Amino acid sequence: PRPILLTRHGESRDNVRGRIGGDTVISDSGELYAKKLANFVEKRLKNERAASIWTSTLQRTILTASPIVGFPKIQWRALDEINAGVCDGMTYEEIKKNMPEEYESRKKDKLRYRYPRGESYLDVIQRLEPVIIELERQRAPVVVISHQAVLRALYAYFADRPLKEIPHIEMPLHTIIEIRMGVTGVQEKRYKLMD
Ligand code: G3H
Repeated sequence: PRPILLTRHGESRDNVRGRIGGDTVISDSGELYAKKLANFVEKRLKNERAASIWTSTLQRTILTASPIVGFPKIQWRALDEINAGVCDGMTYEEIKKNMPEEYESRKKDKLRYRYPRGESYLDVIQRLEPVIIELERQRAPVVVISHQAVLRALYAYFADRPLKEIPHIEMPLHTIIEIRMGVTGVQEKRYKLMD
């Protein structure tokens, strides 16, 4: 069965500063991951002529995909990171200090908590529906380069993890999760390309 490869973008400048949201470029270490990922994908999908690379519309995923050559790239707004609304660009420390009530309500129910003028995990899960339908329809491999919250939701769908776990699933940087759906169920492999 065709694989689906899930990965977060290479480390971004905002990841380094601990800021959420935004649309920054990737760091030097993120650039290195982009090169390693390209290498991996080109080897792994060498004879898969119909394979495609899907990114969000944010720079950090597009830059992570950019060293990959030989496959069509598609940008999906539905793959953009959870919209943190008024908290976009803040660190968790800043949110805790300046908006303690928001911080507490999110901590209490991270799945349902919706950032003011932004999204909740449930909102993200809902907007991913067309992406999931399209992924299910694909016969060729797909590489999905997206963001932590979005990938938690996508991964949970394929790995059949319960809704309430989604916001807490570990989704490390610089790691590829390969998913294969076969008759006997879902198989998963992880490739940690760097620290
Ligand atoms: O920028 C957003 C983060 O990737 C989402 O992480 O839902 O654990 O705060 P979080």
